[in-house]
Amino acid sequence: MNINVDLKVKKPSSNGPTEQTVLGVTHYTDFLFSFRITRPSGFKFRSGEFVMIGLEVAGKPLLRAYSIASPNWDDELEFFSIKVSDGPLTSKLQKISPGDKVLLGRKPVGTLVHDALKSGENLYLFSTGTGFAPFASIIRDPETYEKFNKVIVTHTCREAIELDYSKQVIGNVIEHEFLGEIANGKLYYFDSVTREPYFRNGRITSFIENGELFQTLHLNGFNPETDRAMICGSNEMIADTKALLEQAGLNEGSNAAPAEFVVEKAFVG
Ligand code: A2P
Repeated sequence: MNINVDLKVKKPSSNGPTEQTVLGVTHYTDFLFSFRITRPSGFKFRSGEFVMIGLEVAGKPLLRAYSIASPNWDDELEFFSIKVSDGPLTSKLQKISPGDKVLLGRKPVGTLVHDALKSGENLYLFSTGTGFAPFASIIRDPETYEKFNKVIVTHTCREAIELDYSKQVIGNVIEHEFLGEIANGKLYYFDSVTREPYFRNGRITSFIENGELFQTLHLNGFNPETDRAMICGSNEMIADTKALLEQAGLNEGSNAAPAEFVVEKAFVG
């Protein structure tokens, strides 16, 4: 996720961002890319959290909130971003290459974390667009499979090519020597596309309402006793998905008051 806030950080400061090195960049479409950077020693986070990421622009640090897409055990940090041609940060960030420096905030935070959910059996991770990023972290964290029997990650995009990153992450989990074994039989990927032909066409909210999501998973609709969910997408997608969960009797939780589901806005535009 990525919030439009300019942070003016004084330098030098022990609270200000640290400079990290870009290790790799992968471009998926004209509008989407992922990148990996060094992780400073002592940089702790919970899988699913976000942190400020940025560049020095015209002598000043320009930062946005980005979900950390890598799990908390990874030596490196990964991020999944859109590219906005006139975006103050992403217009420049999309041009980074290995060896370049980026700024990393010191304090990861967020609500898409295990701590904000009560224990349960099934974990639904609902995402659209770059809203998949925090779930790329969650599904690569062994704790997820220790806590839940079924982990259902849904990703809906306008075009099929926008699913390439989530497909790659899912493939990495399945092929991973250790994770693959513990995720085996537990991790389900429910992908759909809304604006071009695909094997599954439609919004996730439609598949919840018409029951196709549950039929595919051999589940019987939402159950507040057993089901937990995290939602990350646009404001509209969050509002509509949240309404369906609330209709089924699930309540929104937070770090301070864990409950049945949590939400966070993904960056749009
Ligand atoms: P659609 O193409 O039918 O609008 P966006 O880029 O606008 O955030 O959309 C990303 C994906 O989320 C698209 O596939 C879009 O479908 C879908 N989407 C947009 N709004 C909603 C909503 N209110 N509920 C569920 N899915 C949505």
